[in-house]
Amino acid sequence: MTPFVLLDGKEASKAWKETIRLQVVSGLEKNKHRPHLAALLVGDNPASNAYVAGKIKDCEEVGFKSTLLRFPSDVQQEELLEAIDALNRRKDVNGYIVQLPLPLHIDQKAILLAIDPKKDVDGFHPENVGRMALNLTTFIPATPLGVLLLLKHYSIQTEGKHVVVVGRSQIVGSPMSILLSQNNSFGNATVTLVHSKTKNVSDFTRMADILIAAIGKPKFITADMVKPGAVVIDVGINRLEVDGKSRLIGDVDFDNVKEVASAISPVPGGVGLMTRIGLLMNTLNATHETR
Ligand code: GUN
Repeated sequence: MTPFVLLDGKEASKAWKETIRLQVVSGLEKNKHRPHLAALLVGDNPASNAYVAGKIKDCEEVGFKSTLLRFPSDVQQEELLEAIDALNRRKDVNGYIVQLPLPLHIDQKAILLAIDPKKDVDGFHPENVGRMALNLTTFIPATPLGVLLLLKHYSIQTEGKHVVVVGRSQIVGSPMSILLSQNNSFGNATVTLVHSKTKNVSDFTRMADILIAAIGKPKFITADMVKPGAVVIDVGINRLEVDGKSRLIGDVDFDNVKEVASAISPVPGGVGLMTRIGLLMNTLNATHETR
């Protein structure tokens, strides 16, 4: 039997950061700009604050510039749209994100539509989603891109494999299923997408060579749902109170599934760190105009 592999986001993200840092250095030698990522953050959501702080720290580590634009939770939509217009015009900002979720009085769709698709390093603009579906150069949303980079780091081939994606969200499950089925170096898999209305989900998950759990339900994937030797990627980030402490729990019952799988990503320390690499990669591509 092949030895068990922990798909360690810490190790993989460290290696990818070094690759990106070297590309920044070689870009500067060719008179390209130093990548500059901006983040627009509304309100005081602790999770959003932590995510954005992590992204800014990553920028420093790889030699990017970063700018944080903060707004109070009662900001008016007009003011946000004006800030977005200014970011679209700024020549010195290569890419930016609007951290989600936004307060309920803001029309999220209108905000995302206002972002210049060439600076949309989250890949949420419909133009970029359409380009992704057509297998054109684009900004792939950070989490699916992070999963692809995690698989690449561990030399896990997708061609000819049966990948089962659990969950059809617009930012993970749906793009993941599209990307893996495409005819390119990280695709060429046979993909099954299962979701909340699928009957007998485990009949499908047990067929997976690579199982990607992105359903947002803690420990949804149990050992009996996994084919022996399968690769299991856990995209779940469920915040639960355990013994009075806030803990992150994945969509996979890690302790039991690791006894069956040949490789598995942990939570925390897996895909979450790779999402941040996806954003850095998109920002580098925005700067080097390789969208
Ligand atoms: N909130 C949670 N994840 C994300 C993300 O990937 N991008 C943005 N903009 N907001 C988020």
